[in-house]
Amino acid sequence: MTKPVSDKKFLRALSGEVFDHPPIWLMRQAGRYLPEYRETRAKAGSFLNLCYTPELAVEVTLQPIRRYGFDASILFSDILVVPDALGQKVWFEEGVGPRLDPITNVAGLKVLDKSRVLDHLKPVFETVRGLRQELPKETALIGFAGAPWTVATYMVGGRGSPDQGAAKAWAYGDPDGFQSLIDLLTEVTGDYLEAQVKAGAEVLQIFDTWAGSLPAVQFRRFCLEPIKALRARLKKSCPEVPVIAFPKGAGAAYETYFKETGVSAISLDTSVDPVWAAKVLQPIGPVQGNLDPLLLVAGGSEMDRAVDHLLKTLGQGPWIFNLGHGIVPQAPPENVERLIKRVRG
Ligand code: CP3
Repeated sequence: MTKPVSDKKFLRALSGEVFDHPPIWLMRQAGRYLPEYRETRAKAGSFLNLCYTPELAVEVTLQPIRRYGFDASILFSDILVVPDALGQKVWFEEGVGPRLDPITNVAGLKVLDKSRVLDHLKPVFETVRGLRQELPKETALIGFAGAPWTVATYMVGGRGSPDQGAAKAWAYGDPDGFQSLIDLLTEVTGDYLEAQVKAGAEVLQIFDTWAGSLPAVQFRRFCLEPIKALRARLKKSCPEVPVIAFPKGAGAAYETYFKETGVSAISLDTSVDPVWAAKVLQPIGPVQGNLDPLLLVAGGSEMDRAVDHLLKTLGQGPWIFNLGHGIVPQAPPENVERLIKRVRG
């Protein structure tokens, strides 16, 4: 028998192994649905302070691992630490969400300084190092960053928006100027992810939450191409580290995106039919997903049925159990317990 790539189930699934019971972790598994998170969050004061205080960031990362023993742990941070590190003003308004001083044209890029990024993000790397020491030996550590397009939507809009209108206005009005923001983000995101690997991250996930809002031509230019370039760079600098991409809302484009970017695995949003994914995506590589986070809120037999359907359809190929998007604050912790029991059989 050949030796498995790792003792860690999550890493083995990423290298193509199929299990009777897949490995499981949940996007946003550290967060407000957990009382212990809310307690540490209150101690930290601001959300960014929590992200930049290694001792507290390690603590909240470990909380869901202690409670549930997930197969993977994701570094606690946020995708918006990158614009913060570049020198854009970023803050989180309590009960509202992220706010930034918007940058809406090429002239606005002057405030950004890529030379300060890695220095500013040192506390994040210290969190990664701390986690590698504290995590149980069977738990894999995921580092992450936002995709250039999604991070740009916040940098240009100055906040979350339902239609990413501000970023689109720039991308359509001055595509080459907007490309310079995407190029800058692609470069610093590469630096940032490489530094997370040096500090001990074993897998990387790239979150492209707003990939679904662009038409095909701009999707290729601003979502697919930057991830293809990032993937090629990481393949050279850290060939052994798997990269998972989450192009939320990409629909039928999931297939070409998966093939052309060359990422190791793809994370499915809630809208992707698992029957289609098993037929079209799993032959390309491992998939991750995709229980509706609101079924986790509902719980009960409806959730059980949906979990069983996923086990039946995606369970025949390489697969990591996850949600189709992050856990929401209303999710009852006991439903997470029930979900894990169901998946682990
Ligand atoms: O998954 C994890 O447990 C790791 C931590 C993590 C957070 N944000 C913590 C967080 C990760 C991987 C992210 C990614 C992120 N951040 C994304 C991409 C994935 C997605 O969910 O779509 C995006 C778009 C952001 C930007 C962001 N951060 C928004 C829009 C918000 C406000 C919305 C909200 O849920 O409050 C945040 C804040 C945030 N990031 C919180 C957490 C736990 C809640 C803030 C708090 O505790 O006060």
